[in-house]
Amino acid sequence: TGDALFQPERRNSAGIDFDYPPDLAKTLAARAPFMKSSFTAAPTNATDLTTGEDVQNPNDFSDIVGTVHHASPEQIEDAFAQAKPWEALHPERILVLNRAADLFEEEFGQVFAILAREAGKTLPDCLAELREAVDFIRYYAVQAQASPQPAVGIFACVSPWNFPLAIFTGQIVAALSTGNAVLAKPAESTPLIAALAVSLFHKAGVPKTALQLLPGTGATVGQALTSDPRVDGVCFTGSTGTAHRIRKNIANNLSTGAPLVAETGGINAMIVDSTALMEQAVSDVIASAFQSAGQRCSALRCVYVQSDVAQEFETMIAGAMDLLNIGDPADISTDIGPVISEVARKSIQDYIDEARTNGRVMKELARPENGHFVGPTLLKTPGGLKDMPREVFGPVLHYTTFNSEDFERVLADVNASGYGLTFGLHSRIDARVEVVKATLNVGNLYVNRNQIGAIVGSQPFGGEGLSGTGPKAGGPYYLARFTRPNAPDDQE
Ligand code: NAD
Ligand code: ALA
Repeated sequence: TGDALFQPERRNSAGIDFDYPPDLAKTLAARAPFMKSSFTAAPTNATDLTTGEDVQNPNDFSDIVGTVHHASPEQIEDAFAQAKPWEALHPERILVLNRAADLFEEEFGQVFAILAREAGKTLPDCLAELREAVDFIRYYAVQAQASPQPAVGIFACVSPWNFPLAIFTGQIVAALSTGNAVLAKPAESTPLIAALAVSLFHKAGVPKTALQLLPGTGATVGQALTSDPRVDGVCFTGSTGTAHRIRKNIANNLSTGAPLVAETGGINAMIVDSTALMEQAVSDVIASAFQSAGQRCSALRCVYVQSDVAQEFETMIAGAMDLLNIGDPADISTDIGPVISEVARKSIQDYIDEARTNGRVMKELARPENGHFVGPTLLKTPGGLKDMPREVFGPVLHYTTFNSEDFERVLADVNASGYGLTFGLHSRIDARVEVVKATLNVGNLYVNRNQIGAIVGSQPFGGEGLSGTGPKAGGPYYLARFTRPNAPDDQE
């Protein structure tokens, strides 16, 4: 993508070194006042907040993090009536968005508390998520200023719970920075962090008519928004199955030209060959498969290890798994928090239990009794991706081996899966890197490192095939889908 990514005037959001005691202490002090607070998510146009549903902490069921008020059909109707593309021109729009980014950073204590309590995020994951959200705002603000184009109109933004701040924010700011009106539907499980984000955008100066929050379920609010002919474009991130449903909604109801930007699931693989630096490979496998409790679309699901080094790998990964701390995500020593819900926990655990009856469980870590926990698990899977019909969205790693002469057959299996999100290669053979680059249909290829945590502006993120429509988020071509190309008439 070359020069288009070079933006000397933009900096990525700064980190916090949790290994430096004064910085950790400052972080925990900023978070502390919000660890017992109760938060609210409601439609932007709501006037009556008498009824609502509890939002529960997936780590501690006695902790009710707040209340969510789902949008009623009348509130959705009213939101359409209110929706108005953002008329502010550059540079005001950009100044407002940058102010929002500053507010996100200033509110880091509150953000970390809600992400830990509502989404079960560990402290490093909370930080990464906040930084990604802020990076999206500043990056798209610069991009939109660099090449202004007419807006499309009203965008429905529908987002998942696993990046409830970063992806929610990225979608919104892509549509807003290009001048569209946004109707934003967050995931059912994570409305509270979405409500905080929307309130910060409003505080920064984004008009309420340009950005409205509509909490609710996919079947009600999501379905209503993505099938309403008044919507001019849809930005969706979530499962491939839901994307198919939304595509049908658009085909049946929206104008034929309405854009759908869909970032979807993946069944991601990594190859570790016999030239890999094994300590590094094992550490990267652990991070890729188990960080965020495996609840990343980018996460590693199946590792292929060359037979010559399989024994060494098996010993080392078992040892590395034993070092993982599973527990309260708010505790700085925790590596793996809970999964998002009881439905998710049961579905992942049933999958592991079935594998156990087939003698495939190589290692399964114990899990805390309370909370929606799944112990990180390694499963023998001789057929690799061919034995994996679906994305298992949790801390489950499938393991298989391959012989050196079968390297290209493994690549063919990856392509045959139909998904194409991330892929990892651990090898010191340059020619293999070139073969992988030339052969694989994947959006993000990582060599000799982990395969999660793409950085906005440096590593545009998105998949091919069943994994998404493109263009890649956090890259120079993304905003084009949120604008109308200048027709020849417009240019005269
Ligand atoms: P999901 O598809 O169940 O839900 C995503 C969103 O769609 C939610 O807001 C949900 O309410 C809404 N929705 C559900 N049914 C709908 C319908 N009929 N019409 C309109 N909206 C509807 O996904 P999830 O469980 O929230 O998230 C996990 C999935 O997201 C995984 O498959 C993961 O791989 C994928 N994901 C992909 C990316 C990426 O960038 N490619 C990033 C994060 C997550
Ligand atoms: N952008 C997220 C990652 O790369 C999904 O892990």
